Amino acid sequence: MTKLAVLCSGRGSDLQSIIDAINDKKFSAEISIVITDKPNVPALTRAENAGIKNICVDRKKFSTRAEFEAEILKNLSEIDLVVLAGFMRILSPDFVKKFSGRLMNIHPSLLPAFPGAHAHRDVLNYGVKISGCTVHFVDEGTDSGPIILQKAVEVFDDDTEETLAARVLEQEHIIYPQAIKLFVEGKLKIEGRKVKIL
Ligand code: GRF
Repeated sequence: MTKLAVLCSGRGSDLQSIIDAINDKKFSAEISIVITDKPNVPALTRAENAGIKNICVDRKKFSTRAEFEAEILKNLSEIDLVVLAGFMRILSPDFVKKFSGRLMNIHPSLLPAFPGAHAHRDVLNYGVKISGCTVHFVDEGTDSGPIILQKAVEVFDDDTEETLAARVLEQEHIIYPQAIKLFVEGKLKIEGRKVKIL
């Protein structure tokens, strides 16, 4: 059984979509642990409600990123795939290397457009007509790794960050479980910058 760890920072709706897909037997995997970098966030409650082991590794309690990551790593020794789901920390190159090809992220834009922490704001300010979401393997850059799946959504003239985020999120909740299913079933092959779906 493929063992997943899901790292989150807040609301955890992407986490929920993965929990639901597993419960609905869309693919065969288990979430062994949910780890957050903040205490008392809804993602922890979602994990608890689903009977999944959950811990907070509070970033504020560690003076360096290396110590913070070392604490996280203690919980990942048995893990096949690390899933970043709204995890608002940049992981070090060492961490990323350890999980090369086994570390996924979802970003709320059509990468490589609009990387970074304010994708929806940047999309609206730029005036593009199409946005979307991207599931990708994580490399040492920010939102720059090989792309697994993408889904486009329209941007409307009267969109706010909130309305656009909600429309994109609906698609996130579809493609993140799909991407994990492909991984679990051994159907993703990384070839340089590209991910082939077998
Ligand atoms: C999502 O929009 C995801 O793309 C981004 O952070 C948000 C997380 O939402 N990385 P949630 O915490 O999963 O509800």
